Amino acid sequence: MEILDLRHFSSADLRPLLEDEIAMWGRVLSWDYAISAEMILRYMDAKILPGYAAIERGSIFGYSFFVYEQNKGVIGDLFVRDGARSFNRHEVEERLLTHVIETLQQSPGIHRVEAQLLAHNAGEVSRPFLQQGFSRHPRVFMNFDIGRHPQASLPTLPPLPPPFETRPWSEQEYQSAAALITAAYRGHVDSEINDQYRTLAGSLRFLNNIVRFPGCGTFDPQASFVVFERRTRTLVGLILCSQVRPDVGHITQVCVLPEYRSAGLGEAMLAASTMNLRGRGFHFISLTVTEANDRAIALYKRIGFESTRVFDAFVWEG
Ligand SMILES: CC(C)(COP(=O)(O)OP(=O)(O)OC[C@H]1O[C@@H](n2cnc3c(N)ncnc32)[C@H](O)[C@@H]1OP(=O)(O)O)[C@@H](O)C(=O)NCCC(=O)NCCS
Repeated sequence: MEILDLRHFSSADLRPLLEDEIAMWGRVLSWDYAISAEMILRYMDAKILPGYAAIERGSIFGYSFFVYEQNKGVIGDLFVRDGARSFNRHEVEERLLTHVIETLQQSPGIHRVEAQLLAHNAGEVSRPFLQQGFSRHPRVFMNFDIGRHPQASLPTLPPLPPPFETRPWSEQEYQSAAALITAAYRGHVDSEINDQYRTLAGSLRFLNNIVRFPGCGTFDPQASFVVFERRTRTLVGLILCSQVRPDVGHITQVCVLPEYRSAGLGEAMLAASTMNLRGRGFHFISLTVTEANDRAIALYKRIGFESTRVFDAFVWEG
């Protein structure tokens, strides 16, 4: 086996492996990875995707790539096909990660590295990260089975308390939404995992990634809502949803300003998205949440979300 720079290869070399990866994401996460795969292949052909490929008998059977975002490196993906003849999958994953981590840590100007490996179970590939001084934050993948919660069996929709009103997401809300995210995550564990939450500019980049790029599914404005306080016309909460498979919605963001919490706004927004997706024939809703975020987890469980797997987020600051 050899580990080589991904930029030596073309999309045709990587495509067969990505087909296996698309199947795995469908099986494990009910997620159609095809759109992300197309984006990866375009980057491959443009020779701008930094990363490493594991090669056996001239073909790629594993890869990992990363992207640079200003002073930060973000590990985008890691996938190794099962059943390689002479190597254990786990060993190849660790070798690929070790190359990626060393490259990023030695890149001039890179002071931070983040990784969230959604499709790997917690602890499974943690060794190379922990050896290189990363911190580990377990995160939970949760799923809501719309069919198992028929509307008639639910208590009536929690009404939004009267001082507030819900509106559909609108692009006009971009700036105020970024301000809301920054305020909602101040001092929060998720802003240790994703430093975009710490600043207004970072939260705008986060929103752009979610709303305009297909990396985390296709943004679904119909199932995304904002909540305003009527009197002050302040944006106090938002929920953003993407479509990750024709019948699966994924909540990419839900937050409420600290001073407006515990009044039922979070639950009302989750109900609004769920109702919308149900009405449009979706079958499942998924989301990810940091294990340490007990209040959010308690809320999701109360509504009917179930934990389906635990994965790791890793962070290194040089
Ligand atoms: C998670 C989050 C969105 C929940 O929003 P929220 O508006 O506080 O949620 P709710 O009020 O609907 O429910 C949460 C709490 O209110 C209580 N509650 C719900 N309806 C209520 C009502 N009508 N009256 C009083 N309390 C109520 C719930 O029992 C729950 O109890 P808790 O305060 O002990 O946690 C919010 O805490 C937040 O923005 N956190 C930071 C960002 C974050 O972690 N987002 C999730 C990332 S995955």
